[in-house]
Amino acid sequence: MIIAPSLLAANPARFGREAGRAERAGADWLHLDIMDGLFVPNISFGPAVVAAIRPHAKKLFFDVHLMCSKPEILLEPFAKASADEMIIHVELGEQVESLIWKIKNLGKKVGLAINPPTPISLVLPFLDKIDLLLVMTVNPGFGGQEFIHETLPKIQQAETWRREKKLPYRISVDGGINNQTAAECARAGADTFVAGTSLFGQRNLKSAVAKMRKIVNGADPGLADLAI
Ligand code: DX5
Ligand code: ZN
Repeated sequence: MIIAPSLLAANPARFGREAGRAERAGADWLHLDIMDGLFVPNISFGPAVVAAIRPHAKKLFFDVHLMCSKPEILLEPFAKASADEMIIHVELGEQVESLIWKIKNLGKKVGLAINPPTPISLVLPFLDKIDLLLVMTVNPGFGGQEFIHETLPKIQQAETWRREKKLPYRISVDGGINNQTAAECARAGADTFVAGTSLFGQRNLKSAVAKMRKIVNGADPGLADLAI
């Protein structure tokens, strides 16, 4: 089980220190939300900021979520900025396949994200080519939104396919994740939990990360048998 605090919920004036706080708190990954003002109605930050954060959290896995219309112009800059994984959206349509190969060629892990209104069947052709499937549990663009329960069947479907096809991709959830919704997602088959507001909002991040980890580990003991 991977706990990935989302930096979007941290104070932007202190991104470096907050990333360091996440590392010291025992988080596995740091989730970095990149928004271009086109794919989503908001702008966040770019490769220079990610590169500047790295020295503050040298060991954390950087999970870069590209909510961008033209990710192809950003892949190399984010690879140089020390991204460990880059996630693109299935809603980009015919570009998806070539974007996946570009990310692989840069030596980085590949994630594929899907928005709440998009049918889960759209990810099927890519499942054997990705390291992670990110099921958005809110409409992307802003932190602090309420979890959309209608996304739970998509997580279950992703888990069924993973089992049937014996594929190794992770199933990540992002948006409105707190201890309660994380447990629901874990029961549905998720193993990677992105949480902004519910983690960075805590004074004691270490105990918040530990508590979420304990809850998701206990939510579905059957998952422990899967080598993921
Ligand atoms: C939403 C982003 C999320 C966001 C989650 O567009 O992709 O990663 O940071 O924030 P919370 O956990 O506050 O819903
Ligand atoms: Zn995200």
